[in-house]
Amino acid sequence: MSHYREEFQGKGGCFVIRNAEGADAPKIFDYMDHVDRETVFLAREPGEFAESYTIDQEAKLLSSWAEGDEKLFLVAETEDGEIAATCGCSYSKGRKRALHIAEIAISVRQDFWRQGLGRRLMSIQLEWCQEHQIEKLNLTVDTKNVRALGLYQSLGFVVEGTLRHEGKLADGTYRDVYAMAKFF
Ligand SMILES: CC(C)(COP(=O)(O)OP(=O)(O)OC[C@H]1O[C@@H](n2cnc3c(N)ncnc32)[C@H](O)[C@@H]1OP(=O)(O)O)[C@@H](O)C(=O)NCCC(=O)NCCS
Repeated sequence: MSHYREEFQGKGGCFVIRNAEGADAPKIFDYMDHVDRETVFLAREPGEFAESYTIDQEAKLLSSWAEGDEKLFLVAETEDGEIAATCGCSYSKGRKRALHIAEIAISVRQDFWRQGLGRRLMSIQLEWCQEHQIEKLNLTVDTKNVRALGLYQSLGFVVEGTLRHEGKLADGTYRDVYAMAKFF
């Protein structure tokens, strides 16, 4: 079980950071739809999340993550119960040669940027990685995503290489991403 809960005082308000649970699925749907419309720096086109999953599937997935030990999927919730951010970190017990490696992904809703949520969520996940004997934490980030790059570099991630044309937007524009990693 990967259970977590804390109250986090952001610069503009208080949030509860906790594991997502099955009951959060409808809110997560709204949240993903919202953030996918705000930025080109996430992996999906607007509306694609809801096309890929049903709420029921999403609820089952969130429950299995909360009950299992291979993924910590955190949400930051406002005092009004809105999802302000999510951050997922996972490794796989399926392959012994990759047991030391985990992956992480994060997003914060734009109206809650610059409150320290991104840094706090990443820091919790770094602690979780160390508790799980992870030695290398991987992520990918758009080469133009200055904010995320600043956050990751300040936490000790380094660029390992550039993956060219790794994304293609609906308008035909290609995006390059950096493969980044933090070694513990
Ligand atoms: C990147 C993102 C997660 C940052 O979240 P946030 O809650 O605003 O981050 P924080 O307030 O904790 O700030 C963290 C750090 O980001 C960095 N940062 C923020 N704005 C920056 C900028 N304009 N230039 C460089 N670094 C910047 C700083 O290192 C900052 O730390 P500091 O406040 O101690 O100086 C958020 O902007 C986001 O979700 N963006 C859209 C989705 C996305 O890009 N996700 C990542 C995909 S790889």
